[in-house]
Amino acid sequence: MSNYHIKHLEEYYQVYRKSIRYPEVFWEEVAEEHFVWRKRWDKVLSWDFTKPEVKWFEGAKLNITENCIDRHLRIRGEKTAILFEPNNPEEDTQHITYQQLYERVNKFANVLKSQGIKKGDRVCIYLPMIPELAISLLACARIGAIHSVVFAGFSATALATRINDADCKMVITSDGSYRGSKTIDLKGIVDEGVAQCPCVETVLVAKRIHSEINMKEGRDQWLQPLLDAASNECEPEIMDAEDPLFILYTSGSTGKPKGMVHSTAGYMIYTAYTFKNVFNYRENDVYWCTADIGWITGHSYIVYGPLANGATTVMFEGVPNYPDFGRFWEIVEKHKINQFYTAPTAIRALAKENLDYVEKYDLSSLKVLGSVGEPINEEAWHWYNDNVGKKKSPIVDTWWQTETGGMMISPIPYATPTKPTYATLPLPGVQLALMDEHGNEITGNQVDGRLCIKFPWPAMARTIWGNHERYRETYFSAFKNMYFTGDGALRDEVGYYRITGRVDDVIIVSGHNLGTAPIEDAINEHQAVAESAIVGFPHDVKGSALYGFVILKETGESRKHENLRKEINQIITEHIGPIAKLDKIQFTVGLPKTRSGKIMRRILRKIACNETDNLGDISTLLNPDVVQSIIDGSLVKK
Ligand code: WT7
Repeated sequence: MSNYHIKHLEEYYQVYRKSIRYPEVFWEEVAEEHFVWRKRWDKVLSWDFTKPEVKWFEGAKLNITENCIDRHLRIRGEKTAILFEPNNPEEDTQHITYQQLYERVNKFANVLKSQGIKKGDRVCIYLPMIPELAISLLACARIGAIHSVVFAGFSATALATRINDADCKMVITSDGSYRGSKTIDLKGIVDEGVAQCPCVETVLVAKRIHSEINMKEGRDQWLQPLLDAASNECEPEIMDAEDPLFILYTSGSTGKPKGMVHSTAGYMIYTAYTFKNVFNYRENDVYWCTADIGWITGHSYIVYGPLANGATTVMFEGVPNYPDFGRFWEIVEKHKINQFYTAPTAIRALAKENLDYVEKYDLSSLKVLGSVGEPINEEAWHWYNDNVGKKKSPIVDTWWQTETGGMMISPIPYATPTKPTYATLPLPGVQLALMDEHGNEITGNQVDGRLCIKFPWPAMARTIWGNHERYRETYFSAFKNMYFTGDGALRDEVGYYRITGRVDDVIIVSGHNLGTAPIEDAINEHQAVAESAIVGFPHDVKGSALYGFVILKETGESRKHENLRKEINQIITEHIGPIAKLDKIQFTVGLPKTRSGKIMRRILRKIACNETDNLGDISTLLNPDVVQSIIDGSLVKK
């Protein structure tokens, strides 16, 4: 795929124009390069956004692991595929070559088969960032099982909801995990979660921290002895282009999490193409994305995209501040990282620390810096550019979503001039539209609106697991014949895009997408709580933090409030995970509501952001008086 690195802005525009005029020719040319197809496609694309139904490369047959592993063996067998950097810097780095990855994936695939997993079965993966995580995804893909990775920071209840929703037969986990100086009892969480999941027949357990754990007879099995006994050859299952590759859950603004279903062929070529171009990846570069494989960023840009390119991809088990705030930069120096991809929240946290942590290390290997997950503010952008990139590595601010499968808006390094806080231009094949609230497209530049996508791209999610109607309703009903992203954006005078944030009830906290409804549902479970509403407010490290307005059944004394705050956060931790904890909790006697009973979050948001002089029209509220009492309450200690 080396011949489609875009080299300058004019070339970007040429490629882009072609991709829009002849999208099928464009993506067919990408698919024809290097990939291994067991059978060629009959049709490149068929689509109908009203149903919605999208099919790419219909009729084609393939296995994604042949493309990510087997096809590299002849020329890259000894090259490092996965470079594992452990939590503890004293522990050795592991270099897993493509040949070794082949053997480990095949063995694992044979273990899955021996445990009765077949094509189309769902397997839940709940593992820390250890090599078994990447290997288990690929092992599922090898035999056509659908993986559903649940980020190992989610609670037992959140895990159980996801296992049951996808009806998973198996869970893959580990005894525990390391996180900085702490250990986490993952198996204990799995035991608690799986107790609520009648569909689970087997739990495979990898050893990582060598803790004493409980193994349930007839259900739990240690992974290693099974691997030792398995053959290292496993014929890949031949899949249809549109067969589901995986499910990955993302929060919605209402209801339970949405299991986004990604397909095989389109996802593969799209993540491969975007990885290659957006990171300007060259053979022998060492690439590091600091995300967890539990999120889409890790699926697409730690596992599938890099491996489809025969790249060396780093998997880091630890955290940015252990043993100290220099850890990222120590790793960059140690492995001579060429492309570094992280989240604004990490940059902001590191930027607060002493510059010595960065300056101590040789970062001259870096060629491209990436940002993902939330808008990157100007200050963080400059800190990254000045201190990490030394003003010579372009920053690619990549906008995309779990639903899009791959990056959608991003500069092409060394081609697109960057501009702080702007994700800049749509990638080839991506047709954006800004829409007004009446459903009309806003044309021209220097405008803003709701960000939509007009035409299918190969990596788009095809449905929500078990609920196609919700998929239609969430993404294809707001604007006719368009995919609606849920984000607002502006287009500047040269056509660059800047994402202005969510326009729905999703709040991005430290780059994690959190829906307000599931958090409110968790809080309302507390016996003392009558009702609650969550909004976001600006936070200097997390980007946004959560502010909860809570109505108690009985107005308690203030000395009880401190305990209640702890208990509310505890209940959130149990239902969702610590990432969803509230930074501020205000007890109030009421919430502003419309006449139809809907909470007016717009007003709460302003109160949370301390913008109370400009609340807009509150006369249509059912209970306008409550607003002043909330404002007064917000001024006392929370
Ligand atoms: C939402 C999607 C993409 C993988 C990680 C997050 C926000 C993402 C950017 C960016 C501004 C961004 C959007 C989007 N977002 N990247 N570069 N600039 N906002 O995936 O959890 O599905 O969240 O994250 O609001 O809709 P996700």
